[in-house]
Amino acid sequence: MTTLVSPVNSPASPGAANAAAAAAAAVPTDAPAGRVLSIQDLRVAYGGIQAVKGISLDVRKGELVTLIGANGAGKTTTLKAITGTLPNCRVEGRIEYLGQPLHGLKSFQLLERKLAMVPEGRGVFTRMSIHENLLMGAYTATDKRQVAEDVARWFEVFPRLKERASQMAGTLSGGEQQMLAMARALMSHPTLLLLDEPSMGLSPIMVEKIFEVIRNVSAQGITILLVEQNARLALQAAHRGYVMESGLVTMTGEAGAMLDDPRVRSAYLGE
Ligand SMILES: Nc1ncnc2c1ncn2[C@@H]1O[C@H](COP(=O)(O)OP(=O)(O)OP(=O)(O)O)[C@@H](O)[C@H]1O
Ligand SMILES: [Mg+2]
Repeated sequence: MTTLVSPVNSPASPGAANAAAAAAAAVPTDAPAGRVLSIQDLRVAYGGIQAVKGISLDVRKGELVTLIGANGAGKTTTLKAITGTLPNCRVEGRIEYLGQPLHGLKSFQLLERKLAMVPEGRGVFTRMSIHENLLMGAYTATDKRQVAEDVARWFEVFPRLKERASQMAGTLSGGEQQMLAMARALMSHPTLLLLDEPSMGLSPIMVEKIFEVIRNVSAQGITILLVEQNARLALQAAHRGYVMESGLVTMTGEAGAMLDDPRVRSAYLGE
């Protein structure tokens, strides 16, 4: 009998938590071969403020893993540590992507290595059309026919973008910009897609649509690490989850089991 949800009580025991998470994973893989991302004992300090205090997590091929937690828990800091986009601050620990350390890579090198991130606030090119934004996502690609096929593929998934292909991105609604940011990231054929709070600030209907797309993208086999404050929808969509509190991973396990866990329900599902 495996413990499905494992509380992590001390930063000294992330290994045990990961072992439990691995045992409980919904997607069977033969790690480490199947491991896309592996973070070990990550610590990040902004000046005197320790924002991340020694967390470990991993994401295996084909998984949708969610990282949930309250404001200021350290979720965005963790994603920025992965992409190397933190401001000048102290970063310790080990981050491996497809078995290789990630330190010191420039954004175009991340794109070459098929690691894409949709940041908080989206960051679309506001003075470019939807179509031009999508082409920017494929700027390293040389096969024009393939790029056109990819645009058509993602327009199928995001019909709202197709209808507005020539519209300037800056005039899109927040939800449409979120869709565009995701579609642009997907144009780069990512092996790993990092999403930071894709549902933030959106209406309930748009949130549903965004999650529908996330499930669709996951079903296409793209590995996803999803940071979310909407814990219920995130855990409903994900295979596994991690809870982050004040810079620490305090709980991890199979997403379905986390949804049933009384501690998750009272702290994150408003029950
Ligand atoms: N550039 C920075 N300089 C100083 N402190 C920072 C900086 N960025 C983040 N912090 C601090 O680090 C902590 C973690 O922030 P982070 O943005 O990672 O949280 P989060 O979990 O993403 O929160 P939210 O859900 O609100 O997005 C917070 O206390 C925040 O104030
Ligand atoms: Mg954040």
